[in-house]
Amino acid sequence: MTAQTVASKVSGDRQFDLALKALEDDFERAAGSFSEDKLQTLQQDFEEIGFVQIENVFGAYNLARAFRHIERDNRQRFNNALKPERPDISKAHTGFSLSRIFLEAEIDADRPEDSTWHQVQAQLLKTGEALAGSMAPVLRKITGVTQYAGCKIFAYDEGDYLSMHNDAQLGERVNMLLPVSFNSVGCIRILYDERLHVYYDSPGCINILGPSIWHDVPPLLRYDAQNRPLRMNFVIRFE
Ligand SMILES: [Fe+2]
Repeated sequence: MTAQTVASKVSGDRQFDLALKALEDDFERAAGSFSEDKLQTLQQDFEEIGFVQIENVFGAYNLARAFRHIERDNRQRFNNALKPERPDISKAHTGFSLSRIFLEAEIDADRPEDSTWHQVQAQLLKTGEALAGSMAPVLRKITGVTQYAGCKIFAYDEGDYLSMHNDAQLGERVNMLLPVSFNSVGCIRILYDERLHVYYDSPGCINILGPSIWHDVPPLLRYDAQNRPLRMNFVIRFE
């Protein structure tokens, strides 16, 4: 590494720290700002649909900056996950194409030592726990679950998608999702009233996804034709 590369890496790492810290602060602030009326409305919507989107919870710029940092330095750490599409009338075995990165250290235990990655992993885990800790009282009011149960990041490249499924087989898990799209307007679609409803990745939104609701992520498309799209999603799981 040249002195210049070292200097830019150090400043990049510092930016990463600051972005995660700002995200944690945003969540702490946001969690305290919900009125009882707002929580009751969210709880009713969640009970009815099994999903709610809450807009403007955090500064989207901070999460985008953290995701860009991970993408630039640690993309090789993501595992491609492909599940073939099969005609299946029960829809229990629909396919997907995306990449995942698990943040629990033991899942990566068979990988070669990589202290840079371990540090990033530890920082993300700490942030995931902090965000979960701040939002746990809010999640309890809306969904009834409180127990933080781990976090991971999904990445969708051009054309990646997740076919319609639900996660009922995983028990009573509730996911708090923090999606960010780059050069695309990504979304999750939620099935209720006999059709799929679109929830865009609006900046700073969180999606709260219950276990039995059917959902999909349509193939990721470019917004402008010159640049590739990317969608990343910080998945924080509660039980
Ligand atoms: Fe799912």
